[in-house]
Amino acid sequence: MIESKIKSTVRDVYDFPKPGIVFKDITPILKDAALCLEIAQALAAQLKGIEIDVVAGIESRGFLFGPALAQLLNVPFVPIRKAGKLPYKTVQQTYNLEYGSATIELHEDALVAGQKVLIHDDLLATGGTVVAASELVMQLGAEVAGYSFIIGLDFLNGRVRLEPYCNKIFSLASY
Ligand code: PRP
Ligand code: ADE
Repeated sequence: MIESKIKSTVRDVYDFPKPGIVFKDITPILKDAALCLEIAQALAAQLKGIEIDVVAGIESRGFLFGPALAQLLNVPFVPIRKAGKLPYKTVQQTYNLEYGSATIELHEDALVAGQKVLIHDDLLATGGTVVAASELVMQLGAEVAGYSFIIGLDFLNGRVRLEPYCNKIFSLASY
């Protein structure tokens, strides 16, 4: 099954990027084309029955599977990027990470008010990143339709922070 394939392929890197962090490295997944396709299809299958107009993926690892997921759902993909990378006018949000803080941005014309947005990232840890992404979506008058991750670090309780925004939270492999 997909969860055990993901878990046996992801590499644990200890003390990266800071002492005490066990970093889930998904780069070994990218070397396995068949597994990548299976993951994209499984991400899409989890979302059956949910109305989605747009997939928003978060830099950088949300860009690895986000576009493939959007293509399978036949909807647009919009990038949420770290501050200073998007060239046009943006909305911004600052947030805390398991190992630091960051600001993310979204082009102000990326979404239309009322659109239902699926937020995708590779991994849910504390939830700080996707809470900030949710605030960006809401700044543009759109709504969060759901969250899609490859990996959920459930012991960090990120789901609790997401539920006030949207309780449709999906991950393929949980720790
Ligand atoms: C990682 C990961 C998520 C975020 C999860 O990204 O890809 O985006 O952390 O953490 P959280 O749930 O505690 O917010 P990172 O900021 O390391 O950036 P990267 O994808 O560019 O490596
Ligand atoms: N982002 C936040 N925490 C992480 C972790 N433990 N592994 C990979 N990415 C992360």
